[in-house]
Amino acid sequence: MQNRNLTETLAREQAMIPVVDDETLALALARKVDAKDHYTNGHSLRVARYAGLIAARLGMSEDQQKKIYNMGLLHDVGKIGISGTIINKPSRLTEQEFEEIRTHTTIGYEILNTIMEEPDLAVGARWHHERYDGRGYPDGLSGTDIPEEARIICMADCYDAMTSRRSYTTIHPQAQVRAEILRCRGTQFDPEIANAMVAIMDDDHAYHLSELGQIHMAEETMEEIAGDDPITAAEYDDVLAALSDSAALMDYEQTARMLRALPLYRIAPDDREDFSAIRHAFHELDWEGLIFAIDAAKVHHE
Ligand SMILES: [Fe+2]
Repeated sequence: MQNRNLTETLAREQAMIPVVDDETLALALARKVDAKDHYTNGHSLRVARYAGLIAARLGMSEDQQKKIYNMGLLHDVGKIGISGTIINKPSRLTEQEFEEIRTHTTIGYEILNTIMEEPDLAVGARWHHERYDGRGYPDGLSGTDIPEEARIICMADCYDAMTSRRSYTTIHPQAQVRAEILRCRGTQFDPEIANAMVAIMDDDHAYHLSELGQIHMAEETMEEIAGDDPITAAEYDDVLAALSDSAALMDYEQTARMLRALPLYRIAPDDREDFSAIRHAFHELDWEGLIFAIDAAKVHHE
């Protein structure tokens, strides 16, 4: 009897665990990392995007672009192993604390090297703080000894640091960021990669490639999807993608506000109770809960 109860419980749990692919898992991990650092909401997703754009600009294949995107998504995954108090310390870090922060590169390398199916992803995590002139960490590599993927992620990472809010009150003007990249070309950055970044910026007249630009674009997509019409099962994947995007780019409050605006009752029109459960999950913004809630809504729709 007890056994049967256990089997039933396990079966129920099994049915509740959302099936996630590698990409969803990578995004969920990135979200966890960003959530730990209060200053850098959406940092991992933006770095992934910028790194992918640079790879494309350098003429790399779509497979390579995708790989670099995923490396970008997970480049800071080692921060999971660093104390949150140090990561969010508002005052100046001591040399010892800096030392600990620097280990996020090697911790990330260890994590990705062992748990992911593609151990290559570990390259970005380990070497994204190396500098072209050899004055970076953890290994002090220089020039083309630094894997190209890591040189690209380094560029994307620094670009995001300059174009997101972080501890600054405002985002730096585009021209200032551009000048800074040119100034560090050949010292911090690979010159060819810095040139690619500058070329991308010169095409980005609306300054979409910045923290606020990315948030506005996600908001627009969400609004478009929400629209006036009921959401159909066929649109479900788009809804899910837009939600993951927004959740990865924004802080909890912003995402919650946006999710409240999305008329989810149109997905599950008959079940108000379900709607409040979904809303609750969104309020909490627990990632697994969010995916589960949307899956539940989908079941009701069919
Ligand atoms: Fe980092």
